Amino acid sequence: MSARCFNGSSTPMNPELIAKATEARERAIAPYSAFKVGAALETRDGRMYTGCNIENASYGLSICAERVALWKALSEGAREFRELAIVTDAERLTCPCGPCRQLLWEYCGDITIHMHSLKGLNNEQRLAALFPFPFDNRSL
Ligand code: THU
Repeated sequence: MSARCFNGSSTPMNPELIAKATEARERAIAPYSAFKVGAALETRDGRMYTGCNIENASYGLSICAERVALWKALSEGAREFRELAIVTDAERLTCPCGPCRQLLWEYCGDITIHMHSLKGLNNEQRLAALFPFPFDNRSL
């Protein structure tokens, strides 16, 4: 990944969505990594669904904040999305992990991803830029 993804500007583009993700991050259960993540997913009609990472002693069962937000939204019936915010307190902005990119692509398409660090970093990328050669239903 190029530095582009990690060099943040100082101006957040969707402060309300980032605020929701920041609140969600406070609820992270991350005793093993101590890396707290918050996410907020916005539908095309403006509803927001939040998530935080939830870890488990059986590490592989841990789930990312993005996926919690996505499963909550889908299970509540939301189907059309436009933006996702991801908030950490890291020195470098946090992009969604590979499996989350796959899932976000399938259910959200080419949404805008807002990355924010409480250290004052911001950046936005389209999912298609983060996940340029997808495997999806067109591949089947
Ligand atoms: N994590 C997320 O929740 N989202 C990301 O985009 C990156 C990683 C979580 C998973 C794990 O609980 C912790 O951060 C460290 O990898």
